[in-house]
Amino acid sequence: MQIKNICCIGAGYVGGPTMAVIALKCPGINITVVDVNPEKIKAWNGPLSNLPIYEPGLSDVVKETRGRNLFFSDDIAGNIEKAEMIFMAVNTPTKTEGEGAGMAADLSYVEACAKDIAKYSKSNKIVIEKSTLPVRTAEKIKEILEENSTDIHFEILSNPEFLAEGTAIEDLFKSDRVLIGGDDTLSGQKAIKSLVNIYANWIPIQKILTTNIWSSELAKLASNAFLAQRVSSINSLSALCEKTGANVDELSKAIGMDHRIGSKFLKASVGFGGSCFQKDILNLVYLCQFYGLNEVADYWHQVVKINDYQKKRFAQKVIDHFDGNLAGKRIGFLGWAFKSNTNDSRESAAIKVSEILYRHGASLSIYDPKVQYKTIVNDIENLWEIKVSIKDKRINIVDKLISTSQCDVFVILTEWKEFEQIEIASTKVIFDGRNISQNQNKFSIGK
Ligand code: NAD
Ligand code: UGA
Repeated sequence: MQIKNICCIGAGYVGGPTMAVIALKCPGINITVVDVNPEKIKAWNGPLSNLPIYEPGLSDVVKETRGRNLFFSDDIAGNIEKAEMIFMAVNTPTKTEGEGAGMAADLSYVEACAKDIAKYSKSNKIVIEKSTLPVRTAEKIKEILEENSTDIHFEILSNPEFLAEGTAIEDLFKSDRVLIGGDDTLSGQKAIKSLVNIYANWIPIQKILTTNIWSSELAKLASNAFLAQRVSSINSLSALCEKTGANVDELSKAIGMDHRIGSKFLKASVGFGGSCFQKDILNLVYLCQFYGLNEVADYWHQVVKINDYQKKRFAQKVIDHFDGNLAGKRIGFLGWAFKSNTNDSRESAAIKVSEILYRHGASLSIYDPKVQYKTIVNDIENLWEIKVSIKDKRINIVDKLISTSQCDVFVILTEWKEFEQIEIASTKVIFDGRNISQNQNKFSIGK
C-alpha cells in the first residue's frame, strides 16, 4: 500500500522526534502527531527554542519539516480518519492500582488509543505499536479494534523504538536496527512491506529486521533488560571495589576490552534512571511470574533491586560524611535530569537521593540546566514518599549554578558538561554520582 498520510498518537519523547525524522526523510508523506494534551500540541507548534522536549538536533529537524509535511494537532478523530497508517506512541507506565500494581504495564492509554482508532476509522488501517508493550499485547489490541468497529480491516504491526534520550536524533538517523513484527499472512506481509519501505528511505535494508509480532514485542523489553543489567552488574561491583581498593573504572575498562563483552554500558553510576528501564524490567518480571517462571522473574528483579541499593548507598555516603547529622547542612544538587542532554527527570536518581538526604535533616539547593522548575517541584511534591511543600525553607530550586559559599557539600547527579568545568573551592567536598570511581569515598576538586 502506498502510504500518503500517517497519524501518530502521542506527542512525547518518542512520538515527537520519531515522526520529525520520518517527515524529514520522507517528504512525500504527510505526518500529523496528535495528543490529548492541548498544551503539548501548542508547545510543539510554538517557538523552536521552547519545544516540549529538549533533544540535541531536534529543533533543526522540526524547523525544516513543520508546516511542510509535519503537523501537530489536537484533532485526533480527523487525523485518524485521514491516515492509512497509525502509530501508537503513548505512555505505558507501571500500573499503580489493580492487578499487577507496581509491576505490570498500565495499558489503559494504549487501549484508549485503540478505541479511538476503531471509533474514527472509516477505511482499512495499518496500526503500529510504537510504545513498549508486554508480549502478546497485539492480541488485546486486535480484540478492541474488532469489537468497536465493523467492516474495517486493521493490520497490527509491532515496531518498537530503541532511541535513547539525549541522542534521539542521532539514534534515529543511524539506528543499529529497525525491528518490525507482523503476522505471517498476506495482509500482514503487505503491511510489513509498507513500513519497511518507509524506513528504507534512510536505513540500510540489512538493518531492517522483520520478525513475528511476539518476538518484536518481547525483543524490546529484553533489550532494555540487557542494557540495564549491565549497569546493575558494574554498579554491584562498584560496592566491592570500594571494599577492596580496586578501581571500578579500571575494572570496567578491563572487562569491556574483551570484544565478546564490549565497552558500552559499563559505566558505574548512582544508578540508572529514565522512564523505561525500571518499568520495562518490572513488566518483564511480572510477565515471567504470570507464566509461572518464578526463577526467571527473580533473576531479572535483582537488576532493579541493585539499582535501588546503589541510590541508597550513594546517599548513605553523604550521611556518613556528616556522621549521620545533616541538620543545618545545605547540600548543592548539581543536576536533576536522569542523564545529560535531556530535560527529562523521570525516575532520576536525584529524586530518591534528595528525599533520603532531606529526611535526614539536610537543606537542599537544586540546579539543572534544562529540567524545568515546575518539573522539579512536581517531582518533590508528588513523587517523594513524604509530603513536602515547595515553600519549605529547606528546599531551594535555583536557575543558575549554585555558588560554592552557599553549600556544605555538593552532589553531582547528572553528567552535564558544564559541571566538568566547575570551579569549586577545594574545601568543598563533592560526591560525584556520575563518576563513582573517583568517589570511592569522596573527593575535593583542587586536592
Ligand atoms: P511521553 O509520556 O513522553 O508521551 C506520551 C504522550 O502520549 C503524552 O504526551 C500523552 O499526553 C499522550 N497520550 C496518552 N494517552 C493518549 C491518548 N489516548 N490519545 C492521545 N494522546 C495520548 O512518553 P514517551 O517517553 O514518548 O514514551 C512513549 C512510549 O515509548 C512508552 O511505551 C515508552 O516505554 C516507549 N519508549 C520510550 C523511549 C524514551 O526514550 N522515552 C524510548 C523508547 C521507547
Ligand atoms: C534507554 C535505552 O538505551 C534505549 O535503547 C531505549 O530505547 C530507551 O531506554 C527506552 O526504551 O526508553 P534512555 O533511558 O533514554 O534509553 O537512556 P540510556 O542512555 O539508556 O540511560 C539510562 C540510564 O542508565 C541513565 O540514567 C544513564 O545515566 C544510566 N547509565 C547508562 C549508566 O549508569 N551507566 C552506563 O554505562 C550507561
